[in-house]
Amino acid sequence: MKNRLNINLAGLELGNPTMLASGILGHSAETFETIVEGGAGAIVTKSIGVKPRKGYANPTVVQTNCGLINAMGLPNPGIAEFVKEIREAKAVLKVPLIVSVYGYSVEEYASVAERAVAVGADAVELNVSCPHVKETGSEIGQNPQVLAEVVRKVKSTVKKPVIVKLSPNVTSTADVAEATVKAGADALTAVNTVKAMAIDSETALPILTNKFGGLSGPAVKPIALRCIYDIYERVKVPIIGCGGITSWQDAAEFLLAGASAIQVGTAIATKGPSIFKNITRGLNAYLEKKGFESVNEIVGLSHRK
Ligand SMILES: Cc1cc2nc3c(=O)[nH]c(=O)nc-3n(C[C@H](O)[C@H](O)[C@H](O)COP(=O)(O)O)c2cc1C
Repeated sequence: MKNRLNINLAGLELGNPTMLASGILGHSAETFETIVEGGAGAIVTKSIGVKPRKGYANPTVVQTNCGLINAMGLPNPGIAEFVKEIREAKAVLKVPLIVSVYGYSVEEYASVAERAVAVGADAVELNVSCPHVKETGSEIGQNPQVLAEVVRKVKSTVKKPVIVKLSPNVTSTADVAEATVKAGADALTAVNTVKAMAIDSETALPILTNKFGGLSGPAVKPIALRCIYDIYERVKVPIIGCGGITSWQDAAEFLLAGASAIQVGTAIATKGPSIFKNITRGLNAYLEKKGFESVNEIVGLSHRK
């Protein structure tokens, strides 16, 4: 069978354009293998920092009628411990392993990225877009000068592709994307969760311990699509679409808007790891029916005049 779904993404060879989104499911090699068996073309790990972090007390996740709001608080074992997981995952995975990195300073981002790459990460994805932890995440991603400094420093430190994950919680994602690419980003992921909250009418209090969290799932899809469409018009690097993808039709829409690949997060909870195979099967049939030889041919197609 002709493989219409192979892509080269900023130097990474993927058998198909689907990836596990950061932070969904655990971070062990075993879980990643399950996701690859489900058909994912690449894995992105949970965001890892310099030191271990417990995350917030429960409740950290609220279900709404259009998706989830989470304020996990970036729980992670810290890079010194996580290097073991990276080594183990690299020993068994046949797809690229992308390590998501966060930090509280330019130096912390560079240090975690360097240690991840040293033990085999194929690329890093910089989380400059988490909406619920102070002094990192979107507080960096919403400030183009600091963001550019982070990207420049990581680029000068590691020799692997540097992907930057953007926030939808800014006035213009395209402006931020442009500054990020000027600073040297090899690819962009768009988008992280949308800042949100939930209130319990019985207790008359916010439900999440952190009050605010990030909305993911179907509610986010039209916002993510708009961000990708805007970014595609402004930058030339590959865009990885993320936000509310639950079917191959959603994935096709993201590609048509300008994404070269897509990530799936929340939908894994409802549809299981085989969602990746369902998306790739559906995309392949769509490309065949429409007469396309490669998935690359539909990237940005909705922009034609
Ligand atoms: C429980 C949960 C944890 C997440 N943790 C991270 C994280 O550690 N780093 C990150 O960059 N994004 C994180 N995200 C955001 C997802 O990677 C993704 O950008 C977002 O959920 C939108 O995609 P989706 O609608 O397919 O879930 C998390 C999302 C959820 C629901």
